[in-house]
Amino acid sequence: MRAAGLTPLSVVPELYPMTGHLLHKTLTPLHPFHREFHAHEVVRESRKVWRLILRSPHWNEIRKSVAMIAGGERSRASSVDLTHDAISAIVPGTIEYEKLTSLCRSLISWRTGPYQLGELYLDTEWRSHMKWDRISPMIPRKPNMRVADVGCSNGYFLHKLSLLNPEIAIGFDPVERCWLQFALLQAILQTPNLAFVPMGVLSLNAFPQFFDFILCMGVIYHQRDQALAVRRLYDATRSGGHVLLESLVVPHDEPLTISPPNRYAKMRNAWTIPSAASLETLFRAAGFKDVEVRSFGPLNTAEQRSTTFAPYESLSDFLDPSDPTTTVEGHPAPHTAAVIGRK
Ligand SMILES: C[S@@+](CC[C@H](N)C(=O)[O-])C[C@H]1O[C@@H](n2cnc3c(N)ncnc32)[C@H](O)[C@@H]1O
Repeated sequence: MRAAGLTPLSVVPELYPMTGHLLHKTLTPLHPFHREFHAHEVVRESRKVWRLILRSPHWNEIRKSVAMIAGGERSRASSVDLTHDAISAIVPGTIEYEKLTSLCRSLISWRTGPYQLGELYLDTEWRSHMKWDRISPMIPRKPNMRVADVGCSNGYFLHKLSLLNPEIAIGFDPVERCWLQFALLQAILQTPNLAFVPMGVLSLNAFPQFFDFILCMGVIYHQRDQALAVRRLYDATRSGGHVLLESLVVPHDEPLTISPPNRYAKMRNAWTIPSAASLETLFRAAGFKDVEVRSFGPLNTAEQRSTTFAPYESLSDFLDPSDPTTTVEGHPAPHTAAVIGRK
């Protein structure tokens, strides 16, 4: 018996013609779970992003190029290593280095990584393994978990999470570029049981009490209603499951936040920057138990910097050159912290 109000993905015929083969494939690992989430919602949200891709001459061209390189079994790596800092793969001879490099350039900017794809070193803005090394000791290790990465960008942490042998790992990110980057990488890496759903954190109510573990990093300070976003994470978690939320924070010992009137570190959409202590308050208010916070100190330019595949301004441009403890706007410079709680 399926739960009332939930629609099996298999009886949502729009899904198939909707995304075309390449991007549809990122939803396919969801099929065995179709009785447990709101498939119509997933279809509706995916369609929105799919239409944005089709309407943009830029993204539509790139979509076709990704589909050409990444079609079928031809693109599968003969060997993949997810254990090192750079996720690496031996790329099949059918994928020419020049074509792959040019496609990756057209998909700029690459945020999470790095990746070594054959001869191509995809040097991303963030050296995400440094974040992984900080947060991975906090992650509960249980067999067959259903895990999510909300705000997953191109999926670097999803591939890392797959080292835990989850039943399924689902990445959520509403940005077109992220969907295309994920599809390209996954066509090569073909990590099992990995899905990408182009939806944001507030759409997580399509997955009621679905996950054993949710990772949500670098997202909360972009949310206007942080309590609502944390509530969505809570509601999508099964009883006994955990949510780990990581964020830029301001260095206060008290549960204080700052809401910059204009920009914070040149970001237009950083609404409220929490402190580590205020992350704890948010989690307790949402109903989480066994809440634990870790502060990691200042974010540094060894971890976040511009590269050839992220050739725009980065952290060093966001800090005051004469005083790196403040942003260019005069706010406290970003530190990072993470909070974990059990439902
Ligand atoms: C600062 S990046 C963090 C990426 C990665 N999670 C990390 O920690 O390195 C924020 C990510 O959230 C995504 N994003 C934007 N709006 C979102 C939303 N409403 N819900 C979830 N993610 C969102 C962005 O596309 C981007 O990939």
